[in-house]
Amino acid sequence: MAQNIKISPSILSADFSILGDEIKSLEKAGADLIHIDVMDGHFVPNITMGPPIIKQIRKCTKLPFDVHLMISPVEKYIKAFADAGSDIITLHPEATDNLKRAVQTVKSFGKKAGVSLNPKTPISALMDVINDIDLILIMSVNPGFAGQSFMGEVLPKVTELRKMINDKKLKIDIEIDGGINFETAALAVKAGANILVSGTTIFSGSLKDNIQKLRNCA
Ligand code: DX5
Ligand code: ZN
Repeated sequence: MAQNIKISPSILSADFSILGDEIKSLEKAGADLIHIDVMDGHFVPNITMGPPIIKQIRKCTKLPFDVHLMISPVEKYIKAFADAGSDIITLHPEATDNLKRAVQTVKSFGKKAGVSLNPKTPISALMDVINDIDLILIMSVNPGFAGQSFMGEVLPKVTELRKMINDKKLKIDIEIDGGINFETAALAVKAGANILVSGTTIFSGSLKDNIQKLRNCA
């Protein structure tokens, strides 16, 4: 079993009519973070939730909120997501004209900053901010929907980033998001990911068993 793997369940697969209870259940079941997928129907072809919901569910858990912003332009909303209770704010390079400034804005609110790479987005897109960020989110599906199949072709990016982070002695988490199940989790961790996002797999059956199984198979 790999050490220090964190599990960040995506609440996109939760029952939204009882969202608060679902989050409490995830905490009890052993989740390390809560992954919140924010979609605007413009940057990605789906709409989910915004700061008012994050503010409400903030009361339900002490777990860190891992907020994945799939909205463009992202800058003008960073403060609202910080104020709502996000702990990590992750954005996509394509969602801003100035990634460095957007990352600095996240940090200015005392939050951890993440950058997410779509399957087709190369590592070079984040090199400008490599010394400023806390997390890299590798998309292993095209963002927009839960329940898609894992794209194994992104794994070399994970391997390369892990090597770069080690060589430069940086403290950056590598998180992977999309199609993570008991088989693909092992592949992602082997490549160098240390945080696993999962919606469909965790919410199919017992939360506790699935979280534990994902942790163990990694
Ligand atoms: C996709 C989202 C993911 C997704 C994961 O755009 O960023 O977080 O909800 O869901 P599964 O685990 O079902 O692929
Ligand atoms: Zn996500």
